[in-house]
Amino acid sequence: MEDSKKDGRYGRLYKQLSELVKKSDNASARMATIIAVLHHKMDYFFWTGFYLIADGKMTVNMYQGPVACQILEKDKGVCWASYNQQKTLLVEDVHQFPDHIACDSRSNSEIVVPFKNKAGEIIGVLDIDSKDLASFSEVDARWLEKILELVWE
Ligand code: SME
Repeated sequence: MEDSKKDGRYGRLYKQLSELVKKSDNASARMATIIAVLHHKMDYFFWTGFYLIADGKMTVNMYQGPVACQILEKDKGVCWASYNQQKTLLVEDVHQFPDHIACDSRSNSEIVVPFKNKAGEIIGVLDIDSKDLASFSEVDARWLEKILELVWE
């Protein structure tokens, strides 16, 4: 999708999500709502979900899409790289990414955004996969980072 079209769509989704999250101050309810809206409104999102650190393990949390790996091997793949580097990673072709963990061979590109708790500490990541190559851009990165803040607002 073109960046200008994406930008407009994210703008509308952000407005919708800002209203929806007000219905509960429960973080899990907000996270689930964000995942559901993103997954169903962004047609290139093939897998949309959270991996959170639990007992030192990168463990799958709420998600939509095909069944995913429950635990990601430490320091391997894109989710761990984003968590360790504390920054959003855009991967145009996951098959070229060293140690990529293929939970589903149909995924071809991916974006991973660090997820912070209320205190601003990174507690995991938002991971989104697409079946197409190079689906994600800086527009996705900027909006998804902003959308994640809605969990705590
Ligand atoms: N691709 C991720 C693994 C999770 S699945 O894509 C849902 C990674 O390499 O960290």
